[in-house]
Amino acid sequence: MNSEKIEIFDTTLRDGEQVPGCKLNTEQKLIIAERLDELGIDIIEAGFPISSPGDFESVSEISKLVKNAKVCGLTRANKKDIDTAAEALKSARKPRIHTGIGTSDSHIRYKFNSTREDIIERAAEAVKYAKKYVEDVEFYAEDAGRTDNAYLAQVCEAVIKAGATVLNIPDTTGYCLPEEYGQKIKYLKENVKGIEKAVLSCHCHNDLGLATANSIAGVINGARQVECTINGLGERAGNTALEEVVMILKQHKNLNLHTDVNSRMLNEMSLMVSDLMGMAVQPNKAIVGANAFAHSSGIHQDGVIKNRETYEIIDPEEVGVNASSIILTARSGRSALAYRFKHIGHEVTKNELDYLYLEFLKIADVKKEICNDDLRLIMEAFKLENRVAG
Ligand code: KIV
Ligand code: ZN
Repeated sequence: MNSEKIEIFDTTLRDGEQVPGCKLNTEQKLIIAERLDELGIDIIEAGFPISSPGDFESVSEISKLVKNAKVCGLTRANKKDIDTAAEALKSARKPRIHTGIGTSDSHIRYKFNSTREDIIERAAEAVKYAKKYVEDVEFYAEDAGRTDNAYLAQVCEAVIKAGATVLNIPDTTGYCLPEEYGQKIKYLKENVKGIEKAVLSCHCHNDLGLATANSIAGVINGARQVECTINGLGERAGNTALEEVVMILKQHKNLNLHTDVNSRMLNEMSLMVSDLMGMAVQPNKAIVGANAFAHSSGIHQDGVIKNRETYEIIDPEEVGVNASSIILTARSGRSALAYRFKHIGHEVTKNELDYLYLEFLKIADVKKEICNDDLRLIMEAFKLENRVAG
């Protein structure tokens, strides 16, 4: 069976940029957008044009710059937002307007003081209005994760009739369990008239640490677009991490799904976004964390030195990391020490290693991590002692 493509919709510059303190200027956004385009992203959500003159400018400039990806601008379901987004996107080679409205009972009652019927009307009107400007209109049903499935299906049906090409089903509050989110996508696939005319999209937040799992459950059940950010940046606990989705689909070939993202650029992309946003990546972050390919316990180090795959499911080069690292701590064993000595030009015999290992442990018990300079000092002391003794 041929593998099906999952479109990657990157929202680092919109949802990702909603992280407190992570504001980017237009110049920085252009640098990121250009690299996202080279990375193989299908859709770049460049911003929310009506939100500020700065965001409008960023979306306009990104529209001029991007060569391959579709460029998308977010709006609420009203004419002024849509007019502004259309204006900002006018130079884009492939423009997309992303419009939508809250559909959960909580949003309908407390945010809009409205009714289910009125929301359907407003949703369809917004899509129709956006279609005046562009062919490609994505509709988001905000808080779809907590929206009743039967009602959500009615909303989807109405916006498809109005011309929506993509249906975004956001788990805005990160509430859903993977099984539940997957079933929601399946339900829509099976119960929305005209669903074959639109692509279903997953947009999951990470409040319970389930954003990636939910997105994967979504694509397993028929969604063909995933909305995500580099390093999983985003509101509160963040969005689905792009690098995780790409590598899950790459590792699990039996899913028969793939993306066009060049995984070898993931590490540099992560570092660049982290630098520009001033937002450090947690060391144990999957795929791009500093420790993602680092081994420090003796048993693991011995296993990896004998055969990398003993404790690594991904070849680090596949995500642009040069090599796995063997970190020397008091938990490390002899084979890791010999490996690191060899790395700095010293082949040691078994007897030498026995001695050196005891010296190493004395230092490792006081220092958190032993670096190459420490190893050189240990070696010098060892040679000196041997010479004196000899
Ligand atoms: O989380 C969400 O619901 C959103 C929409 C605006 C798409 O970011
Ligand atoms: Zn979101």
